[in-house]
Amino acid sequence: MKVLLISSSPHKEKSKTFFLAKGVLGGLLKEGCDCEAIHLDDFRIFFCKHCEECHKKILHCSVLDDVNIILKKMLEADGIILASPNYINQVTASMKALFDRSSHFIHCKRLLGKYIAAVVSSGSGQDKEVLDYIRFYAHTCGAQYSGGVSSAAHLVQEKTEEAAKFGRKLALDIKEKRTYPDQIELIENGKQHFREIIKLRKNKWQEEYQYWLDKGWLGNPR
Ligand SMILES: Cc1cc2nc3c(=O)[nH]c(=O)nc-3n(C[C@H](O)[C@H](O)[C@H](O)COP(=O)(O)O)c2cc1C
Repeated sequence: MKVLLISSSPHKEKSKTFFLAKGVLGGLLKEGCDCEAIHLDDFRIFFCKHCEECHKKILHCSVLDDVNIILKKMLEADGIILASPNYINQVTASMKALFDRSSHFIHCKRLLGKYIAAVVSSGSGQDKEVLDYIRFYAHTCGAQYSGGVSSAAHLVQEKTEEAAKFGRKLALDIKEKRTYPDQIELIENGKQHFREIIKLRKNKWQEEYQYWLDKGWLGNPR
């Protein structure tokens, strides 16, 4: 059970978000997960140029930076923890840039079968919008959302305990391959939506179209 923690605070090891996320890792380690943590600030991630290269040729991009290192790690993980401080009721710009650069994951539901969890910290503790956005990202990429933990900047002991407990829940989601029917329905609806788009763009997005064909998701496309 491989779990990747992606932390987007520029404070890196000193980050409150990362501190809370380490609590989640503690719970995962107790359940025997193999965990890796990365800080987005250690990588060069430029903005998406909407060149559509990644749809024509999977994991190709005209923007030359480190993003593929992270996308590949995400594809290899069973669980992904997305940890971000609240920046104006959103994830940080670095995490949003990563999401934008992963639009192939959305077209081809590349995170199907995986679990995404959220960790958020803020000044105010009003984190619902950020957590909801990470949940939306999970579903649009085909992953189930295991839930999230959040905390106002001043961390209290109960929060670290909650984080560890949540880590064990995430580990069990992965281990037992738990399914949440309401989420599966949302993911399936998203897939139906993209089925039509992929068919319409078959001459343009050739490798993504081929991916759908190989998966047998297009039925009889002719
Ligand atoms: C650009 C920016 C925007 C922020 N926006 C909010 C906000 O909308 N609501 C809030 O409660 N805190 C906000 N904060 C505060 C951070 O979310 C908070 O200090 C957080 O705990 C920092 O986490 P870190 O130590 O992991 O970087 C903002 C901070 C920055 C730098």
